[in-house]
Amino acid sequence: MLKKKIKNICCIGAGYVGGPTMAVMAKHCPDIQITVTDNNIERIRDWNSEDISKLPIYEPGLDIIVNNLRGKNLHFSNEVEKNISIADMIFISVNTPTKTQGIGAGKASDIKWVEACARLVAKYAQNHTIIVEKSTLPVRTAEVIKNILESVSSPEKEEKSSISFDVLSNPEFLAEGSAIRDLENPDRVLIGGENHIAIKALSEIYENWVPVEKILYTNIWSSELAKLTANAFLAQRISSINSIGALCEATGADVKEVSRAIGTDSRIGAKFLDAGPGFGGSCFKKDILNLVYLASYLGLDEVANFWESVVKLNYWHKNRISRLIVEKLFGTISDKKIAILGFAFKANTNDTRESASIQICKDLLDEGAILSIYDPKVLEEQIIRDLNLIESPQLNSKIKNNLSRHSIKKNIYDTFQNADAIVVLTEWSEFSKINWEIAYQRMRKPGWVFDSRSIVNSEKVLKAKLNLWKIGDGTQ
Ligand code: NAD
Ligand code: UGA
Repeated sequence: MLKKKIKNICCIGAGYVGGPTMAVMAKHCPDIQITVTDNNIERIRDWNSEDISKLPIYEPGLDIIVNNLRGKNLHFSNEVEKNISIADMIFISVNTPTKTQGIGAGKASDIKWVEACARLVAKYAQNHTIIVEKSTLPVRTAEVIKNILESVSSPEKEEKSSISFDVLSNPEFLAEGSAIRDLENPDRVLIGGENHIAIKALSEIYENWVPVEKILYTNIWSSELAKLTANAFLAQRISSINSIGALCEATGADVKEVSRAIGTDSRIGAKFLDAGPGFGGSCFKKDILNLVYLASYLGLDEVANFWESVVKLNYWHKNRISRLIVEKLFGTISDKKIAILGFAFKANTNDTRESASIQICKDLLDEGAILSIYDPKVLEEQIIRDLNLIESPQLNSKIKNNLSRHSIKKNIYDTFQNADAIVVLTEWSEFSKINWEIAYQRMRKPGWVFDSRSIVNSEKVLKAKLNLWKIGDGTQ
């Protein structure tokens, strides 16, 4: 029998989606006890950290909600099984990265963590339980989950006829850096499913703060596919504008002017038309490749090739920026010092997954550059890991010396000392307020500024006698 009101929610996965989503849900549903669970001990320790600045995820506004609700109706725990057993509703919010081996490697999403969750739920659930797919999943994953829930047996299941399941798809559309704002005021909430009572139970939760007209209901496969499609369309816009940016640079046009001109067409719209260093983040590439895999699996090769070109252009674009830096610095950057401003894949997050900075820094390292990196939120250990700058005792002294050439600074102005170039890769607002006179004084001449986000004050850079390259700006 299905309970009418949801009293206990368990979310599996305390990451960038699980943490913020459950925090906002807890804020608007004081009568529901919500526990965000994870098998990662450090992550849960950090979510429970007394020092609220140590939460594992940086999102503006998140710390206030967690501080207010933690221990009241919002909890973080490593006890996944126990919390499954008391939950009426379980959100699966685990990672679904691209497969690295086997069939579909490099394209298909690896759903092994989702499968593991389904097995845990099948084993430990005690009553009727609604399972909500929050992770972004290949189309028809709900079928896999249902199959596991029905076939895995447990002693409780044999005894209790009350144990049964419903599976819903409820993809998340939040963007990092604005997660709390997006969750508080979503463009839409999408619920895909078959059982109307289960759909109603989930819908009622959202209705505590989302207007009913913004809650969309579809069949479960449309919901799964809509999530992949939304990300594919968004990423496609960025590859489109970046491709036009390259054309602007070659023709004397300015991509900002072109974006403004096309964005005023209400059919095109003004958002997501900022040329940049190439899209990053854990999802765009992964979700498009998932779509590409699906299309080629179904024999739709032209569809697969169309979407794959969005990812290919993104790779080419990042590489174009690295090559351009080398060209402007007289064709070689060997032993030249380059200041990197921004390592996160976008502003207002500490997430570096698939950040354009990683590929561009690696390209520059391959050319022999000495990097000095600054990001206001990304931890030093993370940058070292992403760039493989790990100093291992096994390394011979020559390589060790080479690695210790690079530095990660806590003060932005320290990165400028003796630098031949400054490369802006993330649009942190503080980069628009740099004192370029100070930068000029500290740099080796002639100094270059490469602005891949079009956020620095061009006039001030040029007035400080620095050379400037700005993404998509062919007017200089
Ligand atoms: P994440 O890597 O930050 O978090 C996932 C968490 O799940 C990790 O902490 C991991 O330890 C935990 N986990 C994995 N298997 C587990 C298990 N069996 N038991 C307990 N915990 C387990 O990932 P994320 O960025 O939060 O993304 C989660 C999903 O949401 C992905 O499918 C992603 O595509 C989707 N999504 C992400 C975003 C985003 O902005 N990051 C936005 C929308 C959708
Ligand atoms: C994106 C989507 O916007 C979310 O709706 C979705 O839920 C999420 O992916 C997901 O499924 O993970 P996110 O990756 O967090 O969110 O951030 P975006 O704001 O979409 O930015 C993605 C990348 O595109 C960043 O590197 C950003 O700098 C870049 N970008 C974005 C541009 O270069 N130009 C733009 O105009 C917009």
